[in-house]
Amino acid sequence: YIDQIKAREIFDSRGNPTVEADVILSNGVIGRAEVPSGASTGEKEAVELRDNETRLGGKGVHKAVSNVNNQINQALHGLNPFNQAHIDKIMIKLDGTPNKEKLGANAILGVSMATARAAAQVTHQPLYRYLGGTDLELPQTFHNVINGGEHADNGIDIQEFMITPVERSSFRDGFEKIVNTYHTLKKVIEKAGYTTGLGDEGGFAPDLKSSEDALTMLHTAIIKARYTPGKEIAIAFDAAASYFYNKDTKNYDFEGKTYSPAELGKYYASLFKKFPEIISIEDPYSEDDWDNFITFTKQYGSQIQIVADDPVCTNPGLIKKAIENGMANSILIKLNQIGTVTETLEAIRLARKNGYTTMISHRSGETGDTFVADFTVATNSAELKAGAPARSERVEKYNQLLRIEEELGEDGTRLAHFPNNVDFD
Ligand code: PGA
Ligand code: ZN
Repeated sequence: YIDQIKAREIFDSRGNPTVEADVILSNGVIGRAEVPSGASTGEKEAVELRDNETRLGGKGVHKAVSNVNNQINQALHGLNPFNQAHIDKIMIKLDGTPNKEKLGANAILGVSMATARAAAQVTHQPLYRYLGGTDLELPQTFHNVINGGEHADNGIDIQEFMITPVERSSFRDGFEKIVNTYHTLKKVIEKAGYTTGLGDEGGFAPDLKSSEDALTMLHTAIIKARYTPGKEIAIAFDAAASYFYNKDTKNYDFEGKTYSPAELGKYYASLFKKFPEIISIEDPYSEDDWDNFITFTKQYGSQIQIVADDPVCTNPGLIKKAIENGMANSILIKLNQIGTVTETLEAIRLARKNGYTTMISHRSGETGDTFVADFTVATNSAELKAGAPARSERVEKYNQLLRIEEELGEDGTRLAHFPNNVDFD
C-alpha cells in the first residue's frame, strides 16, 4: 500500500522549477516521476500551479509541492497503488475544480505518474508492460529539427519542423536515419551562412526569413543524407497557429504578412504541393478558430494527417466536441494538459474509437523522465514527438525506446506504420 507521498521542487530543461513526486510504498519501493512544462500552452490546459511570488520569477512550485506533501499524501495513504483509476479519481475529487487549479495539475500528475511507476516496480515489470500488457509496437517518431515560434528567437512563425522515418527495418534503423539527416541538416544550415544554435527542443534555430526556407532546408538535408523524401524520411510541422492569430481582426499575422483564414489554407496547400513529403500538420488554425480548422479538415483531411493540440488540450470533453464537429483526424496527447494518467488514457481511447490517430508528445520544458516513451508503447500510440536527436532530455526518450525495442525484440518487434489506427482498449 501507499505509505507516503513526497514531492520536491526540481528544475526543467529551461531552468524553470517543476515538481518531482515520490510515491513510497509500505514495502519500501519508491516510484518517482518528474513533471514537464510547456511554453506554447493551450488556453484550456489544466492549471500548472505556480507560486507567483518574487522568488524564481514567480515560477516557484512550493505551493504544488506542499499540496502533494499534505492534502494528497493524506488522501492516498494506505491505498493500493495498482488501482490507478481510483487514485486519480480521489485526486480529481480532492481538487474539485474543472481545471485542477486548486491542487495544481503539476502536483496531481506527478503523483499519478509516480503511482504507476511504483506499481510497475512492485511487479518487477517495465512501465510499458505494466501499463500496456502484451502485443506492443514501437512508434513512428517525429523529430523537431528546426525550432521556431515560441521555442526560438528567430523570425520563423511555424513552431516545429519535424522529420520522421517512414521506411525502416527497426526502430533503431529509423532513428539512425534521423540522426544522419540531423547532422546533414547542420551542414546545410552552416553552408547557407546561418548559426546552428539550438532551440528549446534540440532543433536548430537559424534566423531564416521564412517557414518555406526551413522546409527547403529539410528537403535538401534529406536528399544530401541520401534518403528519398517521403519514402524514407517524411516531413511534418506544427504551425501552433494560436500564436500568430490576431483575435481582433480574426486574421493571421504570419511572417510579416496578414493572411485571411482562407489565404492561410491556400498557403498550407502550396507547401503540400511543393513538398509532397509533408505527411502531417498540427494546429493549422488557432484554438479560437474552430470553424476554419474544421473547414480545413474537410478540404485536406483525406490527404494528410491533421493534428489537434491547442483546441483540445488532451481533454476528453473537448476531444468529443472536436470529433462531433469533424475537426482534425488526429489528436495530440500531453499528460500534463489534463493532469492524470487515467484521463489521458480516456482521451486516447476516445480518439481511437472514433478513427483518430494519436500522437503522444513531450513538452518544450522537459526533464530526464522518460515516462512518455513507455506510455507511447503501452498505448500502442504509433506516433511520438519528443524533439530532436539532441539535448539529453529529448534523446533519453529515444534511448528508452531503443531499450524497449531490445526487450520486445525477443518476441518479435512490431513497428507502427503511418497512419495507424490500431484499436486500443
Ligand atoms: P509546448 O509546445 O510544449 O511549448 O506547449 C508543444 C506543442 O505546441 O506541441
Ligand atoms: Zn502543438
